[in-house]
Amino acid sequence: MSKDRLDVQMVKERVDMVGVISRYVSLAKTGTSYKGRCPFHSDDTPSLVVNAQKGLWHCFGCGEGGDLFSFLMKIERISFPEALERLAAEAGVSLRRRDDGAKEPLREIIAEAAAYFADNLTNDPAGEKARKYLLERGYKQEVWKQFCLGYAFPGWDRLKKKFGKRYKVETLVNLGLLVKREDRCYDRFRDRVIFPIHDLSGRPIAFGGRAFEGEPKYLNSSQNPLFDKGGQLYGLLWARKEISSCRTAILVEGYTDVISVSIAGIENVVGSMGTALTQRQADLLARFADEVVIAYDRDAAGGAASLRGMRILRNSGLNVRVAELPIGEDPDSLVSREGAEGMLAVIGESTPFHHFFVRSLELRYDLSTVAGKEGALEESRAFYQGIVSLPLRQEITKLLAEGLQLPVDELRQDLSRKRPHTRIVRETSEKGRGWNEEEVILCLLLRGEVSWSQVAELATPDDFSPDHKPIAEVFANAGEPSDPSNLIEELDEEQARKASYLALAPILFSDAKKALQDALSRLVRLPNIEKQLSKLRQEIKQAEESADHSKMDLLQQAYSDLVAERRGTCGKS
Ligand code: CTP
Ligand code: MN
Repeated sequence: MSKDRLDVQMVKERVDMVGVISRYVSLAKTGTSYKGRCPFHSDDTPSLVVNAQKGLWHCFGCGEGGDLFSFLMKIERISFPEALERLAAEAGVSLRRRDDGAKEPLREIIAEAAAYFADNLTNDPAGEKARKYLLERGYKQEVWKQFCLGYAFPGWDRLKKKFGKRYKVETLVNLGLLVKREDRCYDRFRDRVIFPIHDLSGRPIAFGGRAFEGEPKYLNSSQNPLFDKGGQLYGLLWARKEISSCRTAILVEGYTDVISVSIAGIENVVGSMGTALTQRQADLLARFADEVVIAYDRDAAGGAASLRGMRILRNSGLNVRVAELPIGEDPDSLVSREGAEGMLAVIGESTPFHHFFVRSLELRYDLSTVAGKEGALEESRAFYQGIVSLPLRQEITKLLAEGLQLPVDELRQDLSRKRPHTRIVRETSEKGRGWNEEEVILCLLLRGEVSWSQVAELATPDDFSPDHKPIAEVFANAGEPSDPSNLIEELDEEQARKASYLALAPILFSDAKKALQDALSRLVRLPNIEKQLSKLRQEIKQAEESADHSKMDLLQQAYSDLVAERRGTCGKS
């Protein structure tokens, strides 16, 4: 375990979680947990649950959740190191690596890795594949230099061999250059184009790697002492100057979006590295910009990612516009097809956030029905109440009155009203209905009702869907049992929310062991049975065609046996 993590664990053990959260929220004890009104959305019923034993909190209204650190980071808008420092001071824990000196050797290793990857790309004969790939994407050698691009060789231990001579394997794992799985330890980045991520002093702190084909398309360094995953924006180093002078930033999703837009001459562009923008990223951007233009791919859900990003950016006090790219394009593809003009045109026509919000309501609700109007109105209330500016409030009321076909004055009153009852989001899954087998297994693990070794008898993290796999991996890698709140330290914000939800949802399993066995067989055994069944169906068809009756009988028998087993596994016929 890294020293850092020991500090975190020690602080968690010593600080009174309920005491700290009580400074912001009044908490009442219910059973083994505490409840209060969530400070992160306008909450009229106590939807916030705090469980000090598990070291977790979760709001069943808005879905936020995590450990004490994430609570403090969110409510005080501070970074992880700041939260750690404050809580450590409170707990009387002296931090082992408060001095920045300890990070210097780590920085040197990452810088050396970046130089190694860059050299592979530029000078090594084996780098030809990557050179060809980048040139085909329109990135010339000067672009590789500018963005410090690189290439990681195929094979499991090229970096391990080269760096393992001089650095401890443990350090390389801690930096996310090597991956440790049970007894194996190997290069994280293999046969990938490398995009280094830099801090604002211009030093590389992490890497993103793109596969040529296959999944996952992108792989990123894990959280490490230098790299605060949800707190970085790709390209901010190069965009900072331009953003500060025009006070506007263009926010895109991908590494290649940043590069292509930037080399086209639009330099105030940064990447959120995926769609789950965090509050810390927004706060970081707010240090340089007053306005942000979101330029995400357009998705089916009426711009769900843009809408979510918009709320987060607004929370940081930023003005927001949403650029609507042609369907099927991202900024990278748009710029390569239509050049900077194409991109500038889309940015020029971008929609102010309140128009975008109202339009997204029109897309998501059927506003010709009463139920649709009610849903849209309820969503609008929280939005409206988050806006301070009177002219803006005025304009939103007008837009909504038109969209919802409601009288302006009554609408205005209704929008300012505090709701008597907050409907709990996801109430169906709260009752455990609609939970799938993966969620059941993770829930049991997070509550400590079963251990990973019990799960591992049948399943591996690879059996889980991409949404849940990172949580399963944390358990698989932990080795010894540990508090859930220590384990979720390894997860990104989105996953931590999911984990706190599963850990604290008020669901009881009458028999944890049985629930686990059921879920495991559905997870592992069922797909297997289905595969065998489909194979048998083909064989039966062939036997039918060749009129091989004795074989048909045998196959039919095997088929019925499997169907019976399937019925037994999941109660499905
Ligand atoms: N991303 C990630 N992990 C993945 C997929 C995506 O971290 N498995 C992040 C990367 O930062 C990526 C961004 O999300 O750049 C956007 O993903 P996507 O739109 O899928 O890729 P593009 O940026 O369009 O990549 P490319 O143009 O190389 O296909
Ligand atoms: Mn792309």
